[in-house]
Amino acid sequence: MNIYDIQKKYLEQSYFLDYRDGYGLSEILEVLTKYSVRGDWLDLGCGGNSYLWRMCLNHIDNMTLVDKYSATSILINEMKNKQFKKGCYKYAFENFCCSNIEEIYSTPYEYVCKDLLKEEILFEKKYNNVSQIGLLGLCENPHIFKIKIFEILKNLKKKGVSINANWLFNSRYSEILNIDNSYITELYIKNILSEHENYQLEYINKIKFNDEKYTGVMIYVIRRVK
Ligand SMILES: C[S@@+](CC[C@H](N)C(=O)[O-])C[C@H]1O[C@@H](n2cnc3c(N)ncnc32)[C@H](O)[C@@H]1O
Repeated sequence: MNIYDIQKKYLEQSYFLDYRDGYGLSEILEVLTKYSVRGDWLDLGCGGNSYLWRMCLNHIDNMTLVDKYSATSILINEMKNKQFKKGCYKYAFENFCCSNIEEIYSTPYEYVCKDLLKEEILFEKKYNNVSQIGLLGLCENPHIFKIKIFEILKNLKKKGVSINANWLFNSRYSEILNIDNSYITELYIKNILSEHENYQLEYINKIKFNDEKYTGVMIYVIRRVK
């Protein structure tokens, strides 16, 4: 399967389906609504799903969407042209969205193709909002995770926010991916941030559940205060 098909299948098997309670989605949507700030938005490891999160961000002037693969841009463009509003998108729109669908899907954007785990996460300008939904869970060890978190934070404007959600792999899925991300705990995130007074952890919550891949999702929000 090519990248376009893989990323589309991922959406079809998750967010294109009807909303299901208990898997952390409503908490992520609520956090985006509550903590995001007016201005611009950088979405790291965006896949084809940025418009779902965009529904919950108010007053976004422009967005920079970044993923490892060039084919991702085709999927993003398709979502935009369809003004997709089914499944979890319908749920997000009806429960968390304050603007209209035309405004969501007409937000100016640029797509950047970049290997964010190999290259430094550094962009030419700084942003009001930076998100990674499902990217840093792919870091192979806590050391790389820590480096990447601080790279991400360097892209924030003062008072800007970094909104994060990382799914935690169960042992079976860890073996398949050859990535054990069980080091992503509340304590670990609190500890690495305690070393830096420029950044404040404003929210952290692990939503626990058990399905065939995950033990839960860690959701956390970091603000640049200085
Ligand atoms: C779990 S998916 C999440 C996609 C999307 N953020 C969402 O909320 O559904 C992880 C995404 O990260 C991207 N990704 C994986 N490794 C990457 C890397 N090294 N650099 C940039 N993007 C990467 C994948 O292509 C994929 O789109």
